Amino acid sequence: MPKDIVHHAHKIARSHRERLNGHKACLLWFTGLSGSGKSTIASLVEEHLHAMGKRTYLLDGDNVRHGLNRDLGFSDRDRVENIRRIGEMSRLFVDAGMITLTAFISPFRADRDAVRERMAAGDFVEVFIDTPLATCEQRDPKGLYQRARRGLIKDFTGIDSPYEPPEAPELHIVNDGISPEEAAVRVIRYLQAQGYLPRQNLPTLDEA
Ligand code: ADX
Repeated sequence: MPKDIVHHAHKIARSHRERLNGHKACLLWFTGLSGSGKSTIASLVEEHLHAMGKRTYLLDGDNVRHGLNRDLGFSDRDRVENIRRIGEMSRLFVDAGMITLTAFISPFRADRDAVRERMAAGDFVEVFIDTPLATCEQRDPKGLYQRARRGLIKDFTGIDSPYEPPEAPELHIVNDGISPEEAAVRVIRYLQAQGYLPRQNLPTLDEA
């Protein structure tokens, strides 16, 4: 911590906000290649949580890069800073009592692990959306892979910039041949099984 800056302990803590909300906060960190389905699945998970009466907030790569991180590009150095800022912002959202969801490629293992280490045990839930590069490239929802292959975008993840898959994610979803809804339900079931969400919410999901 910079010197001369003292951390102030306010009276209203995360536990008070969680009590008011009626549920615990945590961080659901989605990671995977561009076009892997992270944002789509995270958005569906958020819809389910919202329908269950949970307070949520979804931070998404493309959106955050238009605001807070608009000064950052896709060099290794900028990606490290992108994830560092998002990690710090996510910590604040969790402290605010939100079930926070992030959908960023976050290609470097060390950066994801650094976010995990800044959180309390159990607060960081890493969700690896594992979609083969060939599938992402075939989907190419934004036409970016095609442009990267033609050399029009450099440092593109999976093409000329690396993606380091998580070694021990809390959840590993192979998103090939399943629907986004099936993937989202897997996330919700995990949260229920691990006690992040109460079991009484199951009937809502069973209709899905
Ligand atoms: S991260 O690597 O720093 O975590 P982030 O998730 O914020 O990336 O942004 C990725 C999104 O930016 C992609 O989904 C894609 O739409 C767009 N994008 C533009 N240029 C690149 C690039 N060189 N590599 C990866 N994604 C890119």
